[in-house]
Amino acid sequence: MAEKARIAVLVSGGGTNLQALIKAQTRGVLHSGEIVLVVSNQAQAYALERAKKAGIPTLTLLRKELGGQAAFEKALAEALEKNQIDLVILAGFLSILSGDFTSRYPKRIINIHPSLIPAFCGAGYYGLRVHEEALKYGVKVTGATVHYVNEVPDGGEIIAQKAVTVREDDTPETLQKRVMRLAEWKLLPAAAEMVSQKLTERNGL
Ligand code: GAR
Repeated sequence: MAEKARIAVLVSGGGTNLQALIKAQTRGVLHSGEIVLVVSNQAQAYALERAKKAGIPTLTLLRKELGGQAAFEKALAEALEKNQIDLVILAGFLSILSGDFTSRYPKRIINIHPSLIPAFCGAGYYGLRVHEEALKYGVKVTGATVHYVNEVPDGGEIIAQKAVTVREDDTPETLQKRVMRLAEWKLLPAAAEMVSQKLTERNGL
């Protein structure tokens, strides 16, 4: 039997997408990969508690403490190497990785973004801000996108998308919740399984 892809999940906040991945793993929806490490760039991220509860090792890397982005990425690369990571999943990781870093992991980093790319994406578009802008613009349909990560923020090849209808009485908060529930929490685990499967086949893991 083929071995599983070793997955690191990068987080910054609440970690509901991490929770969806953990649940998918428990239920066997995610079976070609295994989450072996959760890395946070925020000390207070609740996602860390979720990982601990699930028995997954965690690591907190703080850019300021480490002395800047280059030092942060160096420490991250070392952790990935040490844990023999095959796939990195950005699940609510609200910081941009440099082209230097992403070019070292072609098609091995995926990200979930809470809009239908190419709308409301790129530098500065993250979290609730994305939904605020979607409502301000007046779009009637939004959604979520999972894509490979390259040197262009939110610009890598699209893996999967799911549309969600905007309601007239939506606030950024209600829209964010619905996009998470109807799109993100399904899309990310499904994409994680698909990419893990590809990696295990490609590498003969
Ligand atoms: C999610 O909506 C995710 O798509 C978004 O941040 C939220 C994190 O929630 N990510 C981005 O905006 C990336 N540009 P979570 O911590 O509960 O998963």
